[in-house]
Parts: sequence; C-alpha cells; structure tokens
Amino acid sequence: MFLEKDFIANLSSTSIEKGSFEWSAPSNIALVKYWGKKENQIPANPSISFTLNNCKTTTKVDFKKTIDGNFTFDILYEGEYKKEFVPKINHFFLRIEKYCSYINDYHFTIDTSNTFPHSSGIASSASGMAALAMSIMSLEKLLYPEMTDAYFYQKASFLARLGSGSACRSVKGNVVVWGNHEEISGSSDLFGVEFTSAIHSNFKNYQDTILLVDKGEKQVSSTVGHDLMHNHPYAERRFTQAHENLSKLKTVLASGNLDEFIAIVESEALTLHAMMMTSMPYFILMKPNTLEIINKIWKFRNETKTPVCFTLDAGANVHILYPENEIEKVFQFIKNELVGYCQNGQYICDEIGNGSQILT
Ligand code: DP6
Repeated sequence: MFLEKDFIANLSSTSIEKGSFEWSAPSNIALVKYWGKKENQIPANPSISFTLNNCKTTTKVDFKKTIDGNFTFDILYEGEYKKEFVPKINHFFLRIEKYCSYINDYHFTIDTSNTFPHSSGIASSASGMAALAMSIMSLEKLLYPEMTDAYFYQKASFLARLGSGSACRSVKGNVVVWGNHEEISGSSDLFGVEFTSAIHSNFKNYQDTILLVDKGEKQVSSTVGHDLMHNHPYAERRFTQAHENLSKLKTVLASGNLDEFIAIVESEALTLHAMMMTSMPYFILMKPNTLEIINKIWKFRNETKTPVCFTLDAGANVHILYPENEIEKVFQFIKNELVGYCQNGQYICDEIGNGSQILT
C-alpha cells in the first residue's frame, strides 16, 4: 500500500536532455458519485466508475531540459496555442511539483485533443488530466527505470487526482474505485484502484450512450459545487450514503442483479443533483429535456422491461447505461424517442473500456 510520502521522487541527477511521449486517456462515468472534497483533493466519500472507451483525450508532451530551475510550458489544443488552458495546467504543475521536483528541469510543450467535441458539455478534465499525468510518469520512468508497473500506474492516478479528482479513475481498469472504503481492500483517498472483486458477465461491455442535451457553458463549475458541500445541511448523511451504496453495488456487480443496479445508479444521479439544489446558494444543472429523457426512460423500462437506466454528471447531459445484449432495442428507442431532446440531435455511443494507452 502506497502512502503520500512514497510518491515524492528523490531523483538526484536528471540525465535526460529531451524526449516526447504521447498517451490517450478516457473519460469515466461514476456510478457512486464523488461530490465534496477536503484539502488537497481528498474526496469526502468513496466513488466508483465505469471507464469509458471512445470519449478520450490524446496528449503529446515534448520535454526539453532548461537551466531556468522552474518548469515552463506551452499548451496547445489541436495544434493551436490555448491561453485559456494555462491557469489549469499551471495549477496542476504547482500541485505536483512536491512529488515530481524533476519537472523544474524542463520546458514542456503539451499538445492535446479530444475525440468528443470540445463544447459538448462532456468534461474533458478527467481524460485530459489523466493523459497528462501519464506522460509525466513516462518521463519519471526514464529518469528512474527501476520503477515497477504498479508504482507507475498508482502514482499516475495520484498525480491525475491532483489535476482533477475524477481523473484518478481514468488511468487503469474497467471499473475503478477512488476513496477509502472498508469493504474494498487497497482502496485509498490518494488514488484510484481497479475494482478486483467479482463482476458478473451482465456488465461485460456495458454500454453508455451519452445524449448531448446542452452543450453550453455550465453556470456553476464542479469546483464550486464541491465547495458548497462544506456546511451543507445534508452533507454528512450523503457521505455515509455513498459508503452504503458502494457496499450494495459491490454485491450487485457480483450477482448481476440489474434491477438493483438500476436503483442504486439512478438514485446516485438524482442525489448528486439534489445536493446541488439544496446547497446555499442553490443551483440546477438539469434542463427541461434532461427530465423529459428521464421520464421517457422510465416509461420505456416499465413497458418493455428492458434493463436500461440513466445517470448524470454535473451537467444536463444524460448517460444511458444498458447491457450489451440490449443494444438493438435501446438504440431503436433512442432514435425513435430521445434524439429529439438532444441539441442538434447529437449523441455519443460509448462502452466500458480499459483506461489509458501509450501511443508513442
Ligand atoms: C459530478 O473531478 O470534475 O462528475 O476534483 O474539482 O476537478 P474536481 O472535480 P471533478 O468532479 C466531478 C464530479 C462528478 C461525479 C464523479 O465523477 O464522481
């Protein structure tokens, strides 16, 4: 088990002059939600997610030794300089400096792109921060070749967390847990771990079709939303509920009971939004079409007994989750009844994937 101090790299000489790495990392969709955090990106409760396969960020990092003594970087999006990304990346480098002091010997050129439209309302912070963390770890591995694979991935997840909490669940594995939970051995507040308990074949290649309801800028960022869980009247009960739901989900993932899966996942999504509506100041991120879609899903499920359910992130888009053997039926339903509620009829078909991948 790794502790925070284990992630402080004590590399005396940086003998590598320059190089380049390219990684992709996917987005993920939480089943039990992370909402609320303590100092230093420590989650207020444990969460669990399915790793996605198609929604991902690809990031190429070129690094070159400098004598400045401080890290410097340029950030590009699809080959074009992006000034508006500078503060977030700078913040990330400042946070990881303590654990990766070698970054101060280099200038980084970071070129990133997403497989999903930038303004789709799909958060790119999870995939983006995970992809960047992977390249930083590739550099560290060059400097310290004896590093084990286990350490490589665990520290990558640790660094990704410092960039964006949910990013630590995008590094490795189909199903990932982040945050201490007494029934999940190895679970940690510091990084995501692969969920290694039994998973029923019902969940193999589980599908996630993301309906793009609103592609506009959110009125309230996740960071502000997390903050509003401090002094929130229902916070403590919510954090306890997340522990309980993770215990229940562990059993359900093993048994393959889809009715119970649906009940936990939809309740988690609505609880997340209920926390937003009951914070002070309060806010609503769902749109009228989000509710239309939810009601249609409930009606369809009732009438056809198809085990399809929804979940939500901190936004108006709806993730529709269903088993692989229901693809045809659910697809027809989406095309016939739901596409009309999507902005410009847009939706993205995704499914469970494996995590980050090195490209070069
Ligand atoms: C609603 O990971 O985006 O998607 O740590 O401030 O970057 P920061 O927050 P972020 O929060 C995402 C929360 C969520 C639920 C979840 O993914 O668990």
